[in-house]
Amino acid sequence: MKIKELIFASHNAGKIAEITDMLAPLGIKVKSAADMDLPDVEETGTTFAENSLLKSQTIAKATGLPCIADDSGLCVDALNGAPGVYSARYAPNRDFDKGMDILLSEMEKSGNSSRKAHFSCVVSLAYPDGEYHLFEGRVDGQISREKMRGEGGFGYDPLFIPDGYACSFAQMSHEDKNRISHRGRAMQKFKEFISNL
Ligand code: IMP
Repeated sequence: MKIKELIFASHNAGKIAEITDMLAPLGIKVKSAADMDLPDVEETGTTFAENSLLKSQTIAKATGLPCIADDSGLCVDALNGAPGVYSARYAPNRDFDKGMDILLSEMEKSGNSSRKAHFSCVVSLAYPDGEYHLFEGRVDGQISREKMRGEGGFGYDPLFIPDGYACSFAQMSHEDKNRISHRGRAMQKFKEFISNL
């Protein structure tokens, strides 16, 4: 079945903008959970896949429409993979400026000098009848010593320097970030899947 419209189970403006951009070339219109006044789904899972599915399946059942969701986060080697699935909650009141300060200070305290980190993302597509599919993406990089702000980005972007680059995600254009990011890579797999439907 060809998909013309999808619900994206998110209230995160940064993610909504990225997913809308990525699906526009396929002629797929994205409506977000925020546009439809749907409530946030509580993320009670312990993995990106579990949380992603919780969101897409809940909204697909509630609306009767195919739904995609992503669950993503930043995993820092020196912090044994934290904040990981707790990335959103790691920032007090979703204040990522504070969240980034906490992250830098926890890395300092860890006594581990590694700056290695990666972003992970699991995109899920759920149908109202229970059928679902998962798509994973990951990008490796380094945590900078201080925030490297730019025009774009959200969340922890000012601290993340992808491997092979000298700038942070926040300093890249939407298009450049989407090409290499965890979400971009997961969405690439999703796009290949739906192009073959
Ligand atoms: P969730 O997937 O809604 O649980 O949120 C994941 C959290 O991880 C976001 O609120 C951001 O803080 C962080 N995150 C996920 N993807 C990105 C990204 O591309 N850039 C910066 N931060 C991100």
